Parts: sequence; structure tokens; C-alpha cells
Amino acid sequence: MINNHVSTFFGVLVALAALAAPVRADDRAPEIPAVPTPGNAAEAKNILGAKLLVCNTCHGANGAPKNANVPIIWGLQENYLLKELHDFQHGDRDNEVMKWMSTALTPEELGSAAAYFAKKNWPASPAGAAPAATASPPAAVAVCQVCHQQNLAGGVPAPRLAGQRYEYLVEAMRRFAEGERTNNTDMARLMSSISAADREAMARYISGL
Ligand code: HEC
Ligand code: HEC
Repeated sequence: MINNHVSTFFGVLVALAALAAPVRADDRAPEIPAVPTPGNAAEAKNILGAKLLVCNTCHGANGAPKNANVPIIWGLQENYLLKELHDFQHGDRDNEVMKWMSTALTPEELGSAAAYFAKKNWPASPAGAAPAATASPPAAVAVCQVCHQQNLAGGVPAPRLAGQRYEYLVEAMRRFAEGERTNNTDMARLMSSISAADREAMARYISGL
């Protein structure tokens, strides 16, 4: 547990150092300052680009995170991405790493980051990452589709779930159920009414979609 925290802490330090350091887009380009000169849109774009590269460390350079506990963010709904970044920043969704990451972005950059990742294509599932969806979905999945839309592909009311990794899904559902994730009361209420075994079966099914 302590080791986990320590390694997370150093991972964050490395990522933060990268966020704070001036970077060069290529060898010939001038150094990019940490804060743009007011009104200099090109400079602001370069700074944002450098910050968003840091996200790839965990969320994957091709959109597929190496660690199954890290969610796929490429192709998620823009309104959802923006809300989550805002929630992390303000502590409404409690996650140490993402609080630090989101705090490194200005309010305008939060919006640009959400738009940037929403436009990317959802990654093809890596071979062996998810079992094929079983023919018969667990009965409660019908309820999920009311908000998460058909095939759980997401939409304005709720984010895409289809194809997120099992480990991330089951942990997200547990956190809602046990009151650790409180940034949506519908989800908290719903998940606390579903047994752990049923949540696991649902996560298994959804990860294979
Ligand atoms: C050090 C690893 C790490 C880095 C770097 C990182 N993230 Fe994350 N991110 C995570 C983890 C872990 C979670 C899941 C948090 C949880 O379980 O609540 C997450 C969750 C998210 C979510 C919520 C997705 C969902 O499905 O709810 C968004 C959005 C997000 N990150 C965006 C970003 C952006 C944008 C950046 C770059 C500025 C970034 N992340 C950098 C590890 C990271
Ligand atoms: C009343 C609408 C509604 C219903 C019904 C619903 N959800 Fe959700 N769900 C949401 C919303 C909205 C969010 C985003 C919450 C937030 O703002 O972080 C969410 C988030 C989630 C997340 C976290 C996604 C992520 O990337 O972190 C999971 C997992 C999830 N729902 C699973 C389910 C499952 C499984 C069902 C069916 C048993 C279900 N939901 C039914 C509205 C709903």
C-alpha cells in the first residue's frame, strides 16, 4: 500500500515536471514558454500540445492505456470529459493523480483538452484485453441503456462504457456503490442497489462490447 503510494507519487512528480518544464516541439523550434504571451494563440496552442502529451503517459499514446485501471479517454463524449476534468480539479471526483493533472490546465485548456480527446477515435481493443461479449447481456443492462444509450456507446446523458476495461469498470461501479465516488447521485443510488457479483458480471459483459 505504502509502496503503491510512493510509486504513484514519483510517477506524478515526473509527469508534473514534464508539465512544468519548457519544451521544444522540435530541435529547430524556439523554446516554448510555460505561460503564453497574452494574445499569442500559436504559443498557447504549443503549450497545450505539450501538456496533452503528458496525458499519453497513462492514457496511452494510441489511446489504449497499458494499465487496465486507467480509463480510455479517446472518443469519450466531450461534455463528459469536460465535466470529469472539472470534477477532478474541484475535488468533486476524488483522485489524487487526476487532481494534479487537471490543476495543471487553465479553464480554457480544460475545454480544449476535452474537445481534443473527444475527437479522437476510440482505440481498437488490444488482442486478449477483453473477452467477447456473451450472447445474453445481464438483465440490468437494459436499465443502463436508458442513459448510456444503445450498446452503451454513450451520448449526451451519459458516457460511453462499451469497451472500457473490466478492471476500470468494476472499480468505478464499486466506488459509486460504496459512496467513494459521489459526483453523480443517480449512479451512486443505482450501484448501491446492485450486488457486487452482479456488478462484476455487468463489467465483464460491457468490457467485451
Ligand atoms: C499518472 C497517470 C495519469 C496521467 C498522466 C493522466 N491521467 Fe487521467 N486518469 C488517470 C487515472 C488512474 C484515472 C482514473 C481515476 C479514477 O479511477 O477515478 C484517470 C481518469 C481520467 C479521466 C476520467 C475518464 C472517465 O472515464 O471517467 C479523464 C477525463 C482524464 N483522466 C483525463 C486526463 C488528461 C486530459 C490528462 C492530461 C492532462 C490525464 N488524464 C493525465 C491517470 C492519469
Ligand atoms: C439515470 C441515468 C443513468 C443510468 C440508468 C445508468 N447510468 Fe451509469 N452513469 C450515468 C452518468 C450521468 C454517468 C457519469 C457520472 C459522472 O458525471 O461522473 C455515469 C457513469 C457510469 C460509469 C463510470 C464511467 C467512467 O468512465 O468512469 C459506469 C461504469 C457506469 N455509469 C455504469 C452503469 C451501469 C452498469 C448501469 C446500468 C446498471 C448504469 N451506469 C446506469 C448515468 C446513468
